[in-house]
Amino acid sequence: MGDVKRRNKNILKSEETIKTVENIKKPFEKVPLSKGLPLRILSRVVVITSLLIIVYFSSKESVITFAKQTELLPGKGLIVECSPEYMNEIIKYEGCAPKDCKRLVTDKVISEREAEELLKIAQKGLKFGGSYGGASILDLHSGALSKGQHFVNIYKIKEMQNLFTQNDFNVFRVVKEKIKFTIAHHFGVQPDKIFLTHPTFFSEITPRKAVTVHDEYWHPHVDKETYKSFHYTTLLYLGDYGIDFKGGRFVFINDKSNSTIEPRKGRLSMFTSGRENPHYVEKVTSGTRYAATISFTCNKIFAIDDPGVDKYEFKS
Ligand SMILES: *[C@@H]1O[C@H](CO)[C@@H](O)[C@H](O)[C@H]1NC(C)=O
Repeated sequence: MGDVKRRNKNILKSEETIKTVENIKKPFEKVPLSKGLPLRILSRVVVITSLLIIVYFSSKESVITFAKQTELLPGKGLIVECSPEYMNEIIKYEGCAPKDCKRLVTDKVISEREAEELLKIAQKGLKFGGSYGGASILDLHSGALSKGQHFVNIYKIKEMQNLFTQNDFNVFRVVKEKIKFTIAHHFGVQPDKIFLTHPTFFSEITPRKAVTVHDEYWHPHVDKETYKSFHYTTLLYLGDYGIDFKGGRFVFINDKSNSTIEPRKGRLSMFTSGRENPHYVEKVTSGTRYAATISFTCNKIFAIDDPGVDKYEFKS
C-alpha cells in the first residue's frame, strides 16, 4: 500500500498526463479485483481532480510582478502604446507630450528618509480625521481630510491651525520638484511645461469595510477618465508591502497578464494617465497602507500652487 501511495504521488507530480494514465494500471495489477476496483476509481478521481486543480491555478497564474518589494530598483520601465484619445489631447500642449507612453518605477529618486518625513506629515493630519470605511485621504492643497462619511477642511478647523509647519510644506515641495524633473527626464518633456494638479493627496488604506463610494479604491479605472486634468500620474509609496500591510498591491490591467507593483517605502511609480494604463489597487487585508498620489497636467488652467502656511484661515 505504501508503495501504491508513493507511486500515486509521483503520478500527481507528472506533467505528462497521457503517460500517467497508462502507469496507473501497473501497480494495481496484483491487487485482488474486489479491492482493486474502488482503488482504481479512487486513483482516477485523484488524478482527474489534481489535473483540474493544476489547470485552475495555472489559468489564474497570469499575474506578473513588475516591481517586487524586496528589490531596490534603480529604474524599471515599460513602453506601452499610447491610447489615441490621450495622444490626440496631449499633442495640443507643446513640450508636454511624451516621446512614448510608459510605466516607470524607481527607488532611487525619493529617499527613504523623505518618504518617512512625508509619512509623518500624512499621519499627523489623518489623526484628526479618518473615514468610517477603509480609505481616507488628506489633500494639502484643498485641505480636504476624510472624516466619518464626509470631508472636512483642515485649514478651517481651529484645532488644526498651524499643525503643518513651513518645514512640512518644504519637504512636500522638494519631493514634488524631484518628481517633476524625473517625469521630464524619463518622458522627454520640458519641466516647465508640466504642472502639479488637483487632486494630489495622501491616502491611508485599512482593511475596514467600505461605507461610502470614497472607500472603494479597488475598482479598475483610467486616471484620465476619473480626472480630466491628469496627464502624468505618480504614486509615492510610504510603506512596505508585506511588512506594514498585506494586500494592497498596485495592479496594471493588461490583455494577457496583469502586472503588479509591490509598494516599498520611497518607491516612485510614474505613468501616463490615459487608457494605456488601466489599473486598480488590491484590497488591503491587514495593516495600514500609506501612499501619496502626486499628479501633473499639461494644461496650465488646472495647475495648482504648492501648499503652504498661507492657507490657514486663522492667522496666529
Ligand atoms: C486583470 O485584472 C482584471 C481586473 O481585476 C480582471 O478582470 C482580469 O481578469 C485580470 N486579467 C488577468 C489576465 O488575470
